[in-house]
Parts: sequence; structure tokens; C-alpha cells
Amino acid sequence: MKTKLTRSPKVAAQILLKGGIVAFPTETVYGLGASLFDEAQVQKIFLVKGRPSDNPLIAHVSNFHELELLVRSIPPHAEQLIEAFFPGALTIVLPKSKYVPAIVTANLETIAIRMPSLNLTQTFLKECGTPVAAPSANLSGKPSSTSWKAVREDFDGKIECILKGDESEFGLESTVVDCSVSPPVVLRTGAISLEELQRVVPETQLSTSPAQHAPKSPGMKYRHYAPEAEVKILEDFSDVDYKSAYIGISNPPKPFAHQKVCCSLSDYARSLYAFFRECDAHQFKRIYCERVPERGLGLALMDRIRKAAEK
Ligand code: TXA
Ligand code: MG
Repeated sequence: MKTKLTRSPKVAAQILLKGGIVAFPTETVYGLGASLFDEAQVQKIFLVKGRPSDNPLIAHVSNFHELELLVRSIPPHAEQLIEAFFPGALTIVLPKSKYVPAIVTANLETIAIRMPSLNLTQTFLKECGTPVAAPSANLSGKPSSTSWKAVREDFDGKIECILKGDESEFGLESTVVDCSVSPPVVLRTGAISLEELQRVVPETQLSTSPAQHAPKSPGMKYRHYAPEAEVKILEDFSDVDYKSAYIGISNPPKPFAHQKVCCSLSDYARSLYAFFRECDAHQFKRIYCERVPERGLGLALMDRIRKAAEK
């Protein structure tokens, strides 16, 4: 199969509506989309990504009408979060309506929904005219894609189309909040911080159950975000091997063989996955990631680094 590269959201939408799998940019990471109501097309996503069938997808919508079609009810806390963070980098989990095919939600009674804010994504979703089911556009277990080139590395010749956009602004996945329970529970930390959520709904909690025991967030039990190289969390620069790769905010006392010194926490988050992919391309054996305080964006960033370091 030849994968079409296009900058036209209209062309990409037409391919999706004809049954093709289309990767598209969002402000968090790139997604791998199928028409949500087309079960055969959604099935293709699981196959091409190598995704376990018990790990549900996110419904991407362009308007509130689509959102309402997919859910049974919107409790008050969900309403407040939607009001504050839609469109944007927040995904909320709500009781699903009868219209949602079981394959999308891996048989769960809930559905995860997000309304991306990136203009190009909105135009694409509007052209589709239907909710788009999409996981992150990476092979299962690999770091998410933050550029169309990363998507092409994983899926060239395997999907019908890549909608080319800029590099993702956040570079980390959306925050997933379960609003089918009260108070809301953060199932996956992400681009929107816990502190930001708590400013709107102060009772919002972090999920306390260990990932492998949390049936509410099936995706979290799988290995994620990992490059081929060994990832090490760096506490300080004593005893490091400078022939390795390094990413962080601090300037190292002497240069590593390959390094990215980020100018801020958000730059660190934005650059992490692309750096992982770059290090694999150069066949580095080890990547040091500087530890950052686990507050604000630092919580999601350390979650991803820790998962990449678990082998
Ligand atoms: O930023 C993002 O969220 C990107 C862009 C493309 O939107 N998408 C993304 O999708 O990261 P994915 O499939 O890689 O991660 C979705 C996460 C998984 O951990 C999955 O288990 C969880 O959301 N999830 C999906 N539906 C759920 C549900 N009904 N209940 C609980 N967790 C759910
Ligand atoms: Mg993913």
C-alpha cells in the first residue's frame, strides 16, 4: 500500500470516509484515526498498531453534538471540566451511549472523549463529519509520535494517509480523567496538570490503584513509551557514561555523545519522545533522563520517563 502524505484536511477526511486509516496531528501527539461507527475500520487500527483488543480508544469529536451522541449522561463535575478544558488536551471518560460500537471501548460501559484544539485537527474532524476513534499514532509499546515523520517511520506502507501538520505543541498525551465516578479520578496524567484540574474541580484525585489492578484504565498495564535504548533516570552527573545520550534541563559538566538541553519543563516534555526516537535511530544503548520535581507538567513527564525506564 502507498501511504498518501497530504497537508489537506479535506483530502485526509475523504480517505477516512472511504475506509482508510488516517494519521492526524493534534496539540498533544499524533493520532491514528478511523470512523468511530465503522467497526471494520476500527478493527484495522488494532491490527496495524499491534494494539491489544482490551485497550480502548479515544473518541475525537469536533463539536458538542457529537459528544452528546456518544454518552448516556454528563454529570456536573464532567460539565465543569468540559467547560474549562474543551477543546484541548483533556480526555474525559463517561458512560457510553448505545450508539458506540463495543470494539471502540473494548467492551467497557464507558467511553473516553476528547475535543482537540489544534485548528488543523478541528478542520479535519469537521470534514469527517463523524467522531473519529484514535489511539496515539505509534506501534504498540513505542514512544508516541510527535511529528508526521515519526508517524511515517512506524506506519509507512501500512496506513492509507498521513495528514501532515507541525510538531505537536505539548508532546505528551492528553490527561485522561474518569468522570463516570465521583469525584473525578485521573487515570493518566498528561498535558493538563492535576493542579489545573483541581482549580476547577478541587476534589479531583489521582488514581491510587496500581496500574495492573485498575480495570478502569486498561491501557496503563501495558508497557509504553519505550525506546530500544535503556532509559536511566539521572539524579546527578557523578558516575555517568558520557558516551551515552542525555536529555534534561540542566547543562551537563561535560558534553554527552548526544544530548538535548531543554530550556524549560514544557520544552523537555515536548522533546522527550522525538529524542527517544532519535537516539534509537543513532543506536545509542543508553539514554539518561534528568529527574524533575513531580508537580505540574513534571508529574506526567516523570510518569512517561519511569515507564520508559521499566524494562
Ligand atoms: O493525547 C492523546 O490522548 C492521544 C491523541 C491522539 O488524542 N491519544 C492517545 O490515545 O494517547 P491512546 O490510545 O494511546 O491512549 C488512550 C488511553 C489508554 O490508556 C486507554 O486505556 C485509556 O486512554 N482509555 C480509553 N478509553 C477508556 C475508557 N473507556 N476507560 C478508561 N480508560 C480509557
Ligand atoms: Mg498510546
